[in-house]
Amino acid sequence: MSEQLWREVDEYVEQRLVRADPVLTAAAQASVDAGLPPIALTPALGKLLHLIARIHGARRILEIGTLGGYSTIWLARALPADGELVTLELNPHYAEVAAANVEQAGLAGLIRIKVGPALDSMRDLLDAGTESFDLVFVDADKQTTPEYFQLALELTHAGSVIVTDNVVRGGALADPDTQDARAQGMRRFHELLAADTRVSATTVQTVGSKGYDGFTLARVERQ
Ligand code: DHB
Ligand code: MG
Repeated sequence: MSEQLWREVDEYVEQRLVRADPVLTAAAQASVDAGLPPIALTPALGKLLHLIARIHGARRILEIGTLGGYSTIWLARALPADGELVTLELNPHYAEVAAANVEQAGLAGLIRIKVGPALDSMRDLLDAGTESFDLVFVDADKQTTPEYFQLALELTHAGSVIVTDNVVRGGALADPDTQDARAQGMRRFHELLAADTRVSATTVQTVGSKGYDGFTLARVERQ
């Protein structure tokens, strides 16, 4: 099976189920135009994230890794009017592009973008006694995923959902000899999950227009 076929199926699904959305299309284009790496979620996975947030009834969402705000917009659109999404981004240029995209989407009132190393921002949120989050989306530098997840556990509550992107890395997840530091990070992440009785999790492999990867869906059982 070929990447061409995965792309065609993604297009088939998008044309029927995701529908043309000028705001999201413009956000994706503005990110590409600004020179951001083309690593945003596919529309089909963006909608999956949006649906998870709505099914869960999330009122407070934390995102780690804003990039150009594409997933941020999908997630924030799932929030009620009194909800909040906090998104963490290391790169000030990415954060500026995201802020403009979020403004264009009419969602600036629901979204707070914090610029800087995400581990520092997460510790700041903890120290500030920030109200816990119902949903966390971890999608930043892959090596640090285990540390992001551990802090995410502290920023959530029993029943919260934590979605982690890019965990399969073309199958390198299952290769004990992988030299890819990002895949090694995802293997460490799975070892952590295996040992942590506070969470119940599964990993789903995906193919599509962005290749072969996958995500982990975790429910916080207790803290
Ligand atoms: C990369 C990062 C992502 O978040 C993604 O969805 C795909 C690729 C990357 O850094 O290569
Ligand atoms: Mg990603």
